[in-house]
Amino acid sequence: MPSAIAAVILAAGRGTRLVSSMPKVLHRVAGRSLIEHVVAGVTPLRCDPVVVVVAPDMAEVTRRVAPCRTAVQDTQSGTGHAVQAAREALGGGGGDVLVLYGDTPLVSRQTLERLLARRQASDRPAVVALAMRPGDPAQYGRLVTGPGDRLDGIVEFADASEVQRAIRLVNGGVMVADGRLLFELLAAVRADNAKGEYYLTDVVAIARSRGLGCAYVEAPAAELLGVNSRAELAAVEAAMQTRLRAQAMAAGATLIDPNSVQFSFDTVLARDVIVEPNVFFGPGVTVGEGAAIRAFSHLEGARIEAGAVIGPFARLRPGTIVGPRARIGNFVEAKNTVLGVGAKANHLSYLGDASVGEGANIGAGTITCNYDGIGKARTEIGARAFIGSNSALVAPVRIGEGAIVGAGSVITKDVAADSIAVARGQQSERPGAARSYRELKKAEHAAKNQSKKD
Ligand code: UD1
Ligand code: CA
Repeated sequence: MPSAIAAVILAAGRGTRLVSSMPKVLHRVAGRSLIEHVVAGVTPLRCDPVVVVVAPDMAEVTRRVAPCRTAVQDTQSGTGHAVQAAREALGGGGGDVLVLYGDTPLVSRQTLERLLARRQASDRPAVVALAMRPGDPAQYGRLVTGPGDRLDGIVEFADASEVQRAIRLVNGGVMVADGRLLFELLAAVRADNAKGEYYLTDVVAIARSRGLGCAYVEAPAAELLGVNSRAELAAVEAAMQTRLRAQAMAAGATLIDPNSVQFSFDTVLARDVIVEPNVFFGPGVTVGEGAAIRAFSHLEGARIEAGAVIGPFARLRPGTIVGPRARIGNFVEAKNTVLGVGAKANHLSYLGDASVGEGANIGAGTITCNYDGIGKARTEIGARAFIGSNSALVAPVRIGEGAIVGAGSVITKDVAADSIAVARGQQSERPGAARSYRELKKAEHAAKNQSKKD
């Protein structure tokens, strides 16, 4: 039985080409940072330990990857140097070490398992690397190969000859090697290259020079795209969205125009959900069976129960639960609000820090005034209550079950169950006053014109 595999994830690079004040690996794809994608990607492999290599000023990265261990690389002197920085944190266990890059977030479990299996094969290659053939081999390291899946070396783009740059098989940046041997090989790596860095990739040629076998495993390019620039960040986002859309449809959701729907890594759609075009799912959204998310809606941190209808043009913010068959219509925003079974808020409302009971109806333009400039307060609306259009409910306030609030009310006090509350200016009427007003105005106008002529 092989001992547990340890994993090292390199994240200390500055990411200069992203032109950002934030570390590269904290940039997000599908609502989650690159580094968290990579950590989540190795989780099913049960690697122990998982060590993330960070730069000295990356406390935020350390916080995000907890409870993974971190090791600090004092200077960013290359990927080989970064792996060496993890040595102590790895604890010197005898097994294999899997090395991944924090800027390569799309590698699937199946691909990682194929890589590990190749290392376990009877010929026991000392180092196995993941390779790909992307449409544009760009600045990826080029693989120098022999017969079969033999790997003889990895040449960095900056150091490659014209002939080597023409090679289309490139390094995806994931590697597995025997742990002890890996550190021996790294000790022999020199920084005498175009970038003056200690390249992890040099361990292949060093292993070969010692007569050790190395191999590569080819994987789909869509899994090995790395992020070095904003353009590559967008390309990785697109690849991730393609995958998430396919997963949603395979699970039984209808996406009328898949390419216009943006998902987060954790979006969950049940079967028979219909998503209309141009919908954005931020993190933390689940949608129950048969619910409809209509066009141009923006959702995050919300649970939508079976049969509910959201939008078009709705905004659901964190802490919102839309009950079974409830409706949130156009230009309605809900935040930290729970709607009961069949409750409706169909037009132009803001519902914040509220609970809306079963079957209640929120009229057009209703606003919960949840914020007094300093703190937030709750609005509780009972089952089957009816809130007239253009009402302001000034929290904290409770509207009892079955109560009615007259349109245009500003409600500042609780309303008892089954009462009618009206809180607005009284309507007054002066018969004929409109006609005499018009006559007065016409006479004034005529007098003014006369005085101009005189
Ligand atoms: C690297 C590979 C290249 C491969 C490509 C795949 C090397 C020398 N080159 O190139 O063969 O095709 O990835 O995407 O390995 N990092 C550190 N400390 C450092 C330098 C880098 O932790 O001193 C981290 C970065 O944060 C990043 C990863 O290592 O997550 C890769 O570094 P990067 O500079 O992006 O390497 P590439 O030039 O893309
Ligand atoms: Ca990179």
